[in-house]
Amino acid sequence: MTMTQRAVPPRVAAAERVASEAGFRKSCISEVGRLLGLAASAKPHGIIAESGTGSGVGTAWLHSGLGAGARLVTVERDEELARRAASVFADDKRVSVLTGDWRLLEQHAPFDVFFCDGGGKRDDPQGVVELLAPGGLLILDDFTPSPHWPPRFGGEVDQLRLFYLTHPALDATEMLTTPASSVVVAARRLQPCETRS
Ligand SMILES: C[S@@+](CC[C@H](N)C(=O)[O-])C[C@H]1O[C@@H](n2cnc3c(N)ncnc32)[C@H](O)[C@@H]1O
Repeated sequence: MTMTQRAVPPRVAAAERVASEAGFRKSCISEVGRLLGLAASAKPHGIIAESGTGSGVGTAWLHSGLGAGARLVTVERDEELARRAASVFADDKRVSVLTGDWRLLEQHAPFDVFFCDGGGKRDDPQGVVELLAPGGLLILDDFTPSPHWPPRFGGEVDQLRLFYLTHPALDATEMLTTPASSVVVAARRLQPCETRS
């Protein structure tokens, strides 16, 4: 650790070790992780969900804000990764690591926080929105900041990002996590808004 790096919670460090052992390189960055912890903290009795557990780094960040009355459910389709990630949370009954397709999450919905990071985000965005409880928070990472509106990626309008940012059931915004990466953060409205632009 250098003088400029902020320490991460011990369970995040454990999940990062699992990632290293497994050769897994798609874990969320700490800037996203701190947002995940914050979101979980805001819903102390909530159901917190994640699609795409990976080695458990994002799960561990969500866990860092998990209330005593909250539950955390995450799903990973890679059996070996799911098994390894589950070992990081074996001591906490509030956490369930499921193995299989992200749609296994449906039986645990609606969610107060949903970090949609593997399955759903691209293949069923409307289905993702429908899994949110009223007031539920959705977090999507790994976007590339765009100075344009509508946002562009690779020279084209980024229709996926636009879908989330203008969805009538969501209050949504995009935030920089690093100079080169961003997240979309959204809350499900109690009443859909009639027009969004
Ligand atoms: C970006 S990585 C997840 C990183 C993790 N959320 C974190 O923050 O550390 C995406 C993961 O989603 C998993 N995945 C992709 N599609 C999936 C699906 N349809 N159902 C379940 N898991 C899926 C991949 O195997 C991969 O491990």
